[in-house]
Amino acid sequence: MAVYPIRTFGDPVLRLPCAEVTEFDVTLRRLADDMLETMYDAPGVGLAANQVGVQKRMFVYDIGDGPGVIVNPVLSGHSGEWEYTEGCLSVPDLAWPIVRFAEVRVDGRDLDGQPLTIQGSELMARMLQHEVDHLDGRLLLSHLDRRQHKDAMRALRRRAMGLSDADSGDDREPVR
Ligand code: NI
Repeated sequence: MAVYPIRTFGDPVLRLPCAEVTEFDVTLRRLADDMLETMYDAPGVGLAANQVGVQKRMFVYDIGDGPGVIVNPVLSGHSGEWEYTEGCLSVPDLAWPIVRFAEVRVDGRDLDGQPLTIQGSELMARMLQHEVDHLDGRLLLSHLDRRQHKDAMRALRRRAMGLSDADSGDDREPVR
């Protein structure tokens, strides 16, 4: 297994929708293993293929109940709303309170190409929505309100210039 470098904000691969997987072969299985290894190494609770530069519609996850993989996932149902502080391995050390659906259902395939449905609430639901967003070429930044987005861009610009967050007037605790 191998740990991939995780692509971060500014990398165009994060803005492109991933392609539907059609080959359920050993290459896909190896990619899933490597992505899990990369996710645990980070550490994070979910990782989409384009976060390691692969344009395949697949993500891996583990919110504490063991590893999981879903291929070609589509959000197929949702209910309620839940606000929680959310971060992303591709936008390191920043986090914002974000409202998402409280419960969701995701339909896709397992690594053998068999139908797979995952349902989850709260943290699980949040992770599922976050990862499906990645595969659609969307980062959590697209869920920020105007003010949050302005602050986020400022923090990211400062970082790109090599300035520390301590100078940005941002007193939020980094969480991911
Ligand atoms: Ni993310």
